[in-house]
Amino acid sequence: MTDVAQAETGPTSAGEGSSALPFPFTRKCPLSTPHEYAELRTHSPATKVRLQLSGKEAWLLTRHEDVKKVLGDPAMSSDAKRPGYPLQFPVPEEVLQFIKFPFSALDAPEHTVQRRLVIPEFTARRIQDLRPRIQEIVDERIDALLAGEGPADLVKELAAPVPSLLFCEMLGADPADIDYFRRYSEVTMNRESTQEDVIALYAEMDGFLGRLITEKEKNPGDDLLSRLAAKNREEDAGLELADLVSIARLLVVAGFDTTANMIGLGTLVLLQNPEAADELRADPSLTRKAVDELLRFLSIADSATVRVATDDVEVGGITIRAGEGVIASNGAANWDGAVFENPHVFDIHRDAKNHLAFSYGAHQCLGANLARVQLEIVFDALLARIPTLRLAAPLEELSFMHGGHIYGLHQLPVTW
Ligand code: HEM
Repeated sequence: MTDVAQAETGPTSAGEGSSALPFPFTRKCPLSTPHEYAELRTHSPATKVRLQLSGKEAWLLTRHEDVKKVLGDPAMSSDAKRPGYPLQFPVPEEVLQFIKFPFSALDAPEHTVQRRLVIPEFTARRIQDLRPRIQEIVDERIDALLAGEGPADLVKELAAPVPSLLFCEMLGADPADIDYFRRYSEVTMNRESTQEDVIALYAEMDGFLGRLITEKEKNPGDDLLSRLAAKNREEDAGLELADLVSIARLLVVAGFDTTANMIGLGTLVLLQNPEAADELRADPSLTRKAVDELLRFLSIADSATVRVATDDVEVGGITIRAGEGVIASNGAANWDGAVFENPHVFDIHRDAKNHLAFSYGAHQCLGANLARVQLEIVFDALLARIPTLRLAAPLEELSFMHGGHIYGLHQLPVTW
């Protein structure tokens, strides 16, 4: 493994020739968080890392207590334009100033104003109302899967379509526009896609969302984008079309692959743990807890929780100086033995609700309710309707998404 003993642990920035560890780490065991976290948590809970694509350096925090402290600290900024912010991809300074970042990468007051406009769309109550429709979408996808003889790719047939079909409806897009959403998943989940492909996709998506929002402003319907545009006007929030587009894009970017990857990987974990699957099949009231345990265990967005300090902050035995970047790894926190006993064990009976997979503090995942409900419905339906579901390829042959913000599976060949 990487020699963590070489990592700098002092309070200053790592300069030229520093021994900062290359980041992100690769998950050597596909159903585990990177093994480096465990050793760092014990020996060097605040460690300098160098982001492999952008070359930026940041502090990596690996203890639950430290990660939670940073995510709840107002001196930790999410403003992606601030010098020192650990951007994962290289962006030239002159380009950076023109990029319209979504509210996930802004601080108060802009963050608060924009987030508040969409909060009502994601309350527990609103999402409960969506349950019957989500159930229908899931059942239709499972019908389509069972109409074939198998084997089939569960990512293509179920995991990717469920969030895209649902979002298409929630946003108020025409069913014929589903291709835009399908294309999004195809590009972002395809291992051959380059950074250029993703940039082109975002431009295409922005054009589509801009046209859709303009149309909703003229002819509002009973949907998220119509209500967003109306609220912006009624509350005099002062957002321009480009801001509304960035909000809509954030919802797609934050809501699609995360849910799709959790469906794919979560199914794989259940197939690898047949006793847990049998228990859930016999008593679906356990699924809620099991979903939280899956979120903790897999921690698919483990390094998406990044900040830059606006003031000196004491954490993990060091001082993070104003202007230094931080990766407060929720994945490392979720496997901290001080909070979760035997964290490497997938245990549907554990109390996992302290997990940080949805982050913590002002930027805590806005779609957590929606994600949980989709996952509960999918796993209950799969377990009940296809009790003979099994892998159609050895685990070693599966291909996993490494190196990005979100961990996932490219394909999940299954049969029944
Ligand atoms: C299983 C799935 C999901 C996981 C693991 C996940 C994880 C996360 C994490 C870790 C963050 C926080 C980043 C930070 O603190 O800086 C976040 C933010 C966010 N997520 Fe999720 N997410 C999931 C599903 C969704 C869904 C379905 C939506 C629906 C639209 C969504 C919308 C958002 C938004 C809008 C933010 C930004 C919140 C803010 O900055 O105020 N997420 N998510």
